[in-house]
Amino acid sequence: MKLFQAIAILAFFQGVCSIPISEVQEKASQGLRLLQLGDDLEPVWKTEEEKFDLLEQNVGFFDVTETYELEQSLGPIIKSKLVTAAAFPSPSHQSDVTPLLASLDTTQQATWLAALTAFNNRYYTQTSGADAAKFIQTTLGDFITASGRTDVSVSPFAHTWVQSSTILKFAASVDPDAPVTILGAHMDSIQGRSATARAPGADDDGTGSVNLIDVARVLIQSGFVPSTPLEFHWYAAEEVGLLGSQDIAVKYKADGVEVKGMLQCDMTGYTRPGAAEVMGLVRDFTDPAVSDFVSQLAETYSRIRTVNTTCGYACSDHGSWTRQGYPSAFNFETPFGSHNPAIHTANDTVDAPGFSWEHSVEFAKVVLGFAYELTV
Ligand SMILES: *[C@@H]1O[C@H](CO)[C@@H](O)[C@H](O)[C@H]1NC(C)=O
Ligand SMILES: *[C@@H]1O[C@H](CO)[C@@H](O)[C@H](O)[C@H]1NC(C)=O
Ligand SMILES: [Zn+2]
Repeated sequence: MKLFQAIAILAFFQGVCSIPISEVQEKASQGLRLLQLGDDLEPVWKTEEEKFDLLEQNVGFFDVTETYELEQSLGPIIKSKLVTAAAFPSPSHQSDVTPLLASLDTTQQATWLAALTAFNNRYYTQTSGADAAKFIQTTLGDFITASGRTDVSVSPFAHTWVQSSTILKFAASVDPDAPVTILGAHMDSIQGRSATARAPGADDDGTGSVNLIDVARVLIQSGFVPSTPLEFHWYAAEEVGLLGSQDIAVKYKADGVEVKGMLQCDMTGYTRPGAAEVMGLVRDFTDPAVSDFVSQLAETYSRIRTVNTTCGYACSDHGSWTRQGYPSAFNFETPFGSHNPAIHTANDTVDAPGFSWEHSVEFAKVVLGFAYELTV
């Protein structure tokens, strides 16, 4: 009986902390990567080559090599069960938000996208990838400086690789300790297995990145001051296992930061020629209440409606937030599977068939509504 109990307890601890930290450090130093391919699966060690095999096969995973130690120190890894946030009130600030939507400017967005796609690639280990992050930081910093605002700040979030993520914060005027509202996009790009191949990444995820820059610009220039904390994130290294967003989400969890809602903006610039124009609202590994709210925002502020879709395990950065138990949503350019076929190739440019600023700007409207309605 005692032996049985001891075995049961051992099994319990093995389930909670299956890989000793010393092993993680040793294997990571040998270049191996620790990948989680499903919430109910133990993480597995893979070589970089095996990791790229999975990417080529479109198998979703979290590369947890960088975050495993901190995540373990927080206790049992939170399984990505659907977190249910309380229902959000319906959008109610149309008279304030609608005029701001008119200030969104796809001509400016196109200028920033041209700069981002001019880097050979925005791969996370490359100088060009690091420089692309700095471009975003400089662009935002210039708007903040020109506005004279001291309640808005932009900073790099450094990682163990050269490309930083970027975090722009609007300080809360009423309740600085209230849960944070987060808008996210990833700013890296990739082509195949190569760190050096041309990867313009115009749609994936240049579009989401410039949508967020423009919404932040409009809110900065309009003088909008949120009552509760508001942040915009541009994540590094999404394409190789959600590395940047995991670093940030785990840090927020460790710091006890609460999140009101997170909305991911990854690929907004393509609609299949001839097909009805819709937004693909991702319903797996997302929060039902936040997602329902995004659908209402589309009805209120956009000319396009959402349809439900699913994109699988760890398909974009919202997954990193869901993994830590935070309520997230993901609004995607089309139903998953009908999306831009040029992504992850040298052909992911604004000239690809189906690329449309008229489509993309509707996602920026939803982002602006999300930011305003949840923090005003
Ligand atoms: C979309 O998904 C949500 C959540 O699962 C569900 O409540 C809603 O009815 C779905 N909408 C449609 C049109 O199927
Ligand atoms: C890019 O587009 C060209 C012209 O349509 C095509 O020939 C080529 O195969 C495409 N390349 C890739 C990697 O998809
Ligand atoms: Zn993407």
